[in-house]
Amino acid sequence: MTTILYSEFPYPDESVEREVYGHEVRLIKHLSGGMDELPDEDCAAAEGLMIFRHHVTEADLARFPKLRAIVRMGVGYDRLDRAAAAARGVMVCNVPDYGTMEVADSAMALVLALRRGLFLYHETQRNTPPSEWKPITTPLIRRMGVQTFGIIGLGRIGTAVALRAKAFGFNVVFYDPYRPNGSDLALGIGRAMTLDGLLEQSDVLSVHALLTPETRGMLGLRELSMLPPGAVVVNTARGPIIDLAALETLLHEGRIAGAGLDVIPVEPPVEPVPDLLRAYRAKEKWLEGRLVITPHSAFHNPEAWGDIRRKSAETIAAALLGNRPQNVISPEMF
Ligand code: NAI
Repeated sequence: MTTILYSEFPYPDESVEREVYGHEVRLIKHLSGGMDELPDEDCAAAEGLMIFRHHVTEADLARFPKLRAIVRMGVGYDRLDRAAAAARGVMVCNVPDYGTMEVADSAMALVLALRRGLFLYHETQRNTPPSEWKPITTPLIRRMGVQTFGIIGLGRIGTAVALRAKAFGFNVVFYDPYRPNGSDLALGIGRAMTLDGLLEQSDVLSVHALLTPETRGMLGLRELSMLPPGAVVVNTARGPIIDLAALETLLHEGRIAGAGLDVIPVEPPVEPVPDLLRAYRAKEKWLEGRLVITPHSAFHNPEAWGDIRRKSAETIAAALLGNRPQNVISPEMF
């Protein structure tokens, strides 16, 4: 009987898992706070490992002598030592397709709400006294159709965002060196061949790349300074791609008009928090209505959680019980 260990099993019953696995699979379920909380005997028995939030190091993997496959119950796999898994012959899979529409919708919602001034009006109308009953003239508020919408990373989510941004009338351009030629033509959007080429034209910049050694810190002061004056920056991908100190400087100087962040470099934030987050929490006046932070929740709704649960089970079943593994992350991939 194949044994699958869930390191974080939050569900009240096994109904969905049993529909996928049948009863010939032994499930070990924990709702642990980290890999080190898992009992040795359970690790020793597991052929499949399901992880959600936990970091998995080489030392953690050494506790799993029978392990054949790991499923990261989500898209990103940056918390997992894939080289160590590969060295032990352990297959690593992710679940790439659970929240594509949700994250795309969230990115668009942040862009539209910032550019229509919703956060600004919301904050200023409930000041004491409220601001005047009239529109506010600010670089933040602009017509969508006069703006170029720059996308970094034209994968699943980036593509879904491109389609949405097009429908709102933006001139959409992407930068993604790994997409084949013609991706722009297929979608009817523009392509920048360099990051700088994208940045210098992006009135809106939305980040949808994976976190890799190449994209970590990809948007620093030099890069963000290349955006046209009054740009809006949205990150629903991974926090370490943007240097928050640089973003804070440019927001403070008014060169960037607004930002929406669903992800930040250290999650959850720990003290001392970055200056930008401190100013946001302190409701500093200069930032009013110009910065929105959501707690890595762009994917979240009950339907997406249902997809994660079922698709993760299907993925480990394909890896361990079937003959056609899916969503395999090879060690060479970033
Ligand atoms: P994907 O793998 O389909 O697309 C990522 C794209 O980034 C690929 O096309 C790849 O070629 C591109 N890329 C890689 N290196 C690049 C570079 N140096 N410059 C430009 N592009 C580069 O991934 P998917 O599913 O579209 O996810 C996108 C991002 O969203 C990931 O960072 C993922 O972790 C994040 N995410 C965030 C969620 C949230 O709740 N905030 C939920 C799900 C995913």
